[in-house]
Amino acid sequence: MKPSIDLILGTALWAWTVSKEQAFQLLDKFYEAGYRWIDAATNYPINKNANDFRASEGILCEWIKANGVQDLKVLMKIGSINNLYTPENNLTPSFIQIIYNEYLHLFGEQLAEVMVHWDNRAEADAIRASLLALDRIRQEGVKIGLSGIKHPAIYHELNSSFGFDWDIQLKHNLVYSDYDRYSAFHGQARFLAYGINAGGLKFPSATYRKDSSTAVRNVPTEKYQDLVHEVATILTDYNAHSSLEALTRFNECSMVYTYYSPDIKGILVGPSKTAQLQSTLTFFEQLQAGQHEELYNRLAALSSNG
Ligand SMILES: NC(=O)c1ccc[n+]([C@@H]2O[C@H](COP(=O)([O-])OP(=O)(O)OC[C@H]3O[C@@H](n4cnc5c(N)ncnc54)[C@H](OP(=O)(O)O)[C@@H]3O)[C@@H](O)[C@H]2O)c1
Repeated sequence: MKPSIDLILGTALWAWTVSKEQAFQLLDKFYEAGYRWIDAATNYPINKNANDFRASEGILCEWIKANGVQDLKVLMKIGSINNLYTPENNLTPSFIQIIYNEYLHLFGEQLAEVMVHWDNRAEADAIRASLLALDRIRQEGVKIGLSGIKHPAIYHELNSSFGFDWDIQLKHNLVYSDYDRYSAFHGQARFLAYGINAGGLKFPSATYRKDSSTAVRNVPTEKYQDLVHEVATILTDYNAHSSLEALTRFNECSMVYTYYSPDIKGILVGPSKTAQLQSTLTFFEQLQAGQHEELYNRLAALSSNG
């Protein structure tokens, strides 16, 4: 039996392909269904439009205020200083403290987790200074995590004197995975998987809209055409031999693959429409009921990550 896995609503496309009205509807549905974890980041949406810097979190704040909600769990990724898709960030202790104070002001007790967002540094002393600042935040009852860390082994080594129980966000899907890079942290369910659809891949039966996730993020869908076909073939055979309701979406295969992958603690989902969110929620319930492990085995054999 799998340990329970969190479902976390992503906000990377809000104020980009997802309008404020759509985001409000997604939040309504997600919240009504009983889920509470929301993933955010200072630099969302990363659409290279400086005017939109922090626009995604702005929508979240507006929705919280409009609905008087007090029990969300906001996971905020910090460090970025623009939304231009550059690696520039600031993880100095003073900036960490300033941005933490800002989010505490915006979210209060709903600020449940703060994550380092992208760190290419290889200097242990600079990383230790960041960890000291994060340790002070942890002492206030906020969980601390990591995302987009180029040298995880340095964090792992320094952690012997801090003892953080990190959550780690990692890209993990049928075409690519960062799991091996975090080998120092394997063996415990601490990974929150993002990009599970490889940025929005679909089966050939579905068309990519002009404002699809793959279009705005320049995902090379042709490059993954063969893999998508192979997944579709596996699924057709699986459906034919299964007594369960037939699966129809690439997203369902992505969720199966992620759900059963080792050390997964949570799945970040990024639906752009309420219908997508509804199908995701329905399917997540099926996964929790223990269905589709056999499909995972077949997908894992196909994936180079498996
Ligand atoms: N830590 C990091 O560095 C990092 C990086 C990336 C993302 N994230 C987080 O993870 C979240 C999800 O990541 P992602 O957007 O890259 O995920 P993704 O699942 O790879 O792509 C999302 C896209 O997949 C399609 N999709 C999702 N659910 C679907 C469904 N039920 N049926 C059909 N299509 C579906 C939609 O495409 P269309 O809109 O084209 O229909 C959606 O926009 C983000 O919002 C963000 O919070 C974190």
